[in-house]
Parts: sequence; C-alpha cells; structure tokens
Amino acid sequence: MEASEAAPAVATAAVMEAEDVSGGKGSWYVLGERALMVPYMREHVPRYHDWMQDPALLEATASEPLSLSQEFEVHRSWTLDPLKHTFILLDKELIEGEFVPGNPHTEAMVGDVNIYMNDSDDMQIAEIEIMIAEHKSRGKGIGQEAILLMMAFAVEKYGIHTFRAKISESNTASLKLFRKLGFKDASYSAVFKEVTLEAPTDSLPLRFPLTIGDW
Ligand SMILES: CC(C)(COP(=O)(O)OP(=O)(O)OC[C@H]1O[C@@H](n2cnc3c(N)ncnc32)[C@H](O)[C@@H]1OP(=O)(O)O)[C@@H](O)C(=O)NCCC(=O)NCCS
Repeated sequence: MEASEAAPAVATAAVMEAEDVSGGKGSWYVLGERALMVPYMREHVPRYHDWMQDPALLEATASEPLSLSQEFEVHRSWTLDPLKHTFILLDKELIEGEFVPGNPHTEAMVGDVNIYMNDSDDMQIAEIEIMIAEHKSRGKGIGQEAILLMMAFAVEKYGIHTFRAKISESNTASLKLFRKLGFKDASYSAVFKEVTLEAPTDSLPLRFPLTIGDW
C-alpha cells in the first residue's frame, strides 16, 4: 500500500477506537472499595460473549443468545448510543499488578452494569441493570456497590432523578438487592412475569464525591 493511502486508514482506525470506548459520552472509570467500573471495550467482548452462553444468565438478564459477531455489533451500538451508558465491572482482588487506566484488565472482569434512558416522557429516568457473571465474585458486595456507584455516576453526569429496575419475579437475589437499597414495587407484568421497581434519587443511600478518573 502507498504511504499516502495508509495515513487516512490509520486516522479512521483511531477515530473508530475513540468511538468504541466512549461513543462521544466521555470516557471515565469509577473507583469503588471492591469494584472498579471501566468502559466496555472491544477487548471485553469475547469474555462477555462466553458469559452469555449460560442459559441461567440469559434468563436472569432477559437476553437472547448471540453469535460473537452479533455481540461485537451490540457492543458498538451500546457504546455509540447516547441514551445508554455501560461499564464493565472489575473485581479489584483479581487485578494482576497495578490498575492502569486504559488497560481493559480482562483478567479481572466479572460483570457489567448499565443505565438506559429509555422513557420518552422523561429522559431523566434511567433503567438500571446489573450482572455479576462470575460466580466466584458473587456474594462479595460487588453487585450492591456497583449499583450504588452507577446511580451516583448517573446523577452526576446525566442528572437522573429516578431509577427503575425490571426484574423477573423468580429472581429473588436481584429483587432482594434492589429492595434492600430502597427500591419500591411500582408495577407487575403478568405477561412477562416481571416486577418493575422504582426509586427517586433522594431516597437512595448514594455517596458523593465519586472517585472518577479519565480513561
Ligand atoms: C443479583 C446479583 C447482581 C447480586 O450480585 P452480588 O454481587 O452477588 O450481590 P451482593 O454480594 O452485592 O449482595 C447484596 C445483596 O443482594 C442480595 N443477594 C445477593 N445474592 C443473593 C442471593 N443469592 N440470595 C438472596 N439475596 C441475595 C442480598 O440482599 C445482599 O445483601 P446481604 O448480603 O446484606 O443479604 C448477581 O447474583 C447476579 O448478577 N445474578 C445474575 C444476573 C441477574 O440476576 N441480574 C439482575 C437482573 S436485573
């Protein structure tokens, strides 16, 4: 290839990489006591895809099985969607060496947490979803910490005033977790066998300031 042709290709790749990391929404990590929330990067997709082969996780998260290339496409659409913000959760105990911003640290990824501003009547309501996929990292308080960190982040960066969670009626662990944090049952869908819970921001035990760093 001619040198003159190579330059735009490199520039395009750089732009795509930037899009993939932040989608124009800013790119941060958030530090907790047990968990670190980092941007969902392309490097995370193969392991994420492995997790989503588990029928129990598919059911708990109301997801459909995808091929790896579909998972890469979903990753791209999530990162570019201005109404969605996703973090991969790192278990701090599993990080090899020092945490380095910009490094995907796939060795420590254990789940994800995301918000979705999908209520067209009020864009400052966010639906929140959490998944701790790695069983070895469940029951350590990471899920609870990640929800609280994500909600504080959403208040700070998106001005969210109410959070919503849609949880299968059979998912007792997740129902218990959200109710423990102060979410109240708002409605029930007999068709989807799903409970919708809600919490106004000022009723939640959120802690500020957050420890946020540039990615
Ligand atoms: C539900 C889930 C997020 C919990 O994450 P976790 O990190 O294991 O939970 P934590 O250690 O932070 O526990 C916090 C609270 O959640 C509840 N909880 C967590 N696991 C539980 C379980 N197996 N049974 C009952 N309650 C449970 C408890 O209230 C717990 O507080 P406590 O220890 O004071 O009783 C995790 O099990 C998961 O991702 N499951 C599969 C995917 C899923 O269901 N996602 C939610 C869809 S909305």
